[in-house]
Amino acid sequence: MERTFVMVKPDGVQRGLVGEIIARFERRGYKLVGLKMFTMPREVAETHYAEHRGKPFFEGLVRYITSGPVVAMVWEGKNVIAAAREMMGATDPQKALPGTIRGTYGIDVGRNVVHGSDSPASAAREIDIFFKADELLNYERPL
Ligand code: CMP
Repeated sequence: MERTFVMVKPDGVQRGLVGEIIARFERRGYKLVGLKMFTMPREVAETHYAEHRGKPFFEGLVRYITSGPVVAMVWEGKNVIAAAREMMGATDPQKALPGTIRGTYGIDVGRNVVHGSDSPASAAREIDIFFKADELLNYERPL
């Protein structure tokens, strides 16, 4: 079954949006198989955002993502990678549709509340950065 990596960023945690974001995925029907809260070390942030190294916003992005606790999750279910991106809305909250997470709770691309993997390759890479195999749990989720 498909899995994706979703992270509530420091602004989302500080604003008390963790429960709201988890609830949206649960109510949609997706299954939470991994969950942890931590403050990201700088070297992990640089690995996670390696593709943005060299971009003008990279240093600010790393400083922001390491500035406070994040909530990292792995969600499982049919088409969850694309569905999570749709539920989050465009990266820039100004372009995110109303009703999406960023379109409801964000106004600034540098404080966009939540992160989600953008492809199967990214999902595999990001899950591997943040979770050990035995931290991903199997259980029944009756509909
Ligand atoms: P995310 O989906 O976590 O992946 C990369 C992040 O870089 C993105 O969300 C934004 O938060 C951030 N980002 C992208 N473009 C910009 C920008 N122009 N200025 C600041 N941050 C950006």
